[in-house]
Amino acid sequence: MKILVLIGAPGSGKGTQAKQIVDKYGYEHVSTGDMLREEISQKSLLGLEAKKAIDAGQLVSDEIVIGMMKTKLQTIKSNGCVLDGFPRTLAQAEKLSKMLIEEYNKDIDKVIYINVSLNAVIDRMAGRLTCSVCGASYHKIYNMPLVEGVCDLDGSKLYVREDDVAEVVHKRFDTYMLNTFPVIAYYKHKNLLDDIDGEIEIAKITEKIFSSLEF
Ligand code: AP5
Ligand code: MG
Repeated sequence: MKILVLIGAPGSGKGTQAKQIVDKYGYEHVSTGDMLREEISQKSLLGLEAKKAIDAGQLVSDEIVIGMMKTKLQTIKSNGCVLDGFPRTLAQAEKLSKMLIEEYNKDIDKVIYINVSLNAVIDRMAGRLTCSVCGASYHKIYNMPLVEGVCDLDGSKLYVREDDVAEVVHKRFDTYMLNTFPVIAYYKHKNLLDDIDGEIEIAKITEKIFSSLEF
């Protein structure tokens, strides 16, 4: 069982690269953002609570997200998983290691940090399209679907995420710098982190990630 963490700013390409890793290694993609959006679409209590934070560009509480992840980790059947967007706070990072030890008797194998600037984030969010069913990301210029408005993977409709408006994107980036940037330093200190330039072509980033995963 391999445990990978993808960490990076909003729009850094975590979801895009997670799909490539899943295709190549058969790992399970675990995105807390996708899980929260699913709760919102089902109008669950948790979803209603999460929506307030997401719409404001803030983090959902550690309590909710850690609880959701604990349940998820108990269901993983494949030979590995890619955690996309978790952990995002030091409290989540510490709790993740504890949960992994309890469930699988091991810690994280590797943390991939996709390193991008605020300018790249703003540019990408302005053109992102997301699959309404599987959550796959596309871009109007950099990563176009084969058929306009339709997901290549499952044929579902693409939409613009509500939190991709410029004002919320700025807030999400500030939230990331405040809460998630220290997590990067934490994993660097633990010697688990690979820092990958996230401002090159998608396929080149994938190549770099694959070579980093040859462990
Ligand atoms: P989440 O859905 O995880 O959002 P995020 O972290 O802000 O990241 P995104 O999904 O927006 O971007 P991405 O890095 O996946 O980039 P993508 O591959 O799509 O979380 C949403 C919200 O949920 C959070 O704000 C928070 O409120 C809450 N939440 C989630 N997890 C939480 C947690 N653990 N704790 C508390 N709250 C939590 O790519 C972006 C665009 O760029 C696409 O258009 C893509 O096609 C394009 N692109 C990708 N790579 C490249 C490239 N190399 N060159 C050009 N374009 C590219
Ligand atoms: Mg994503």
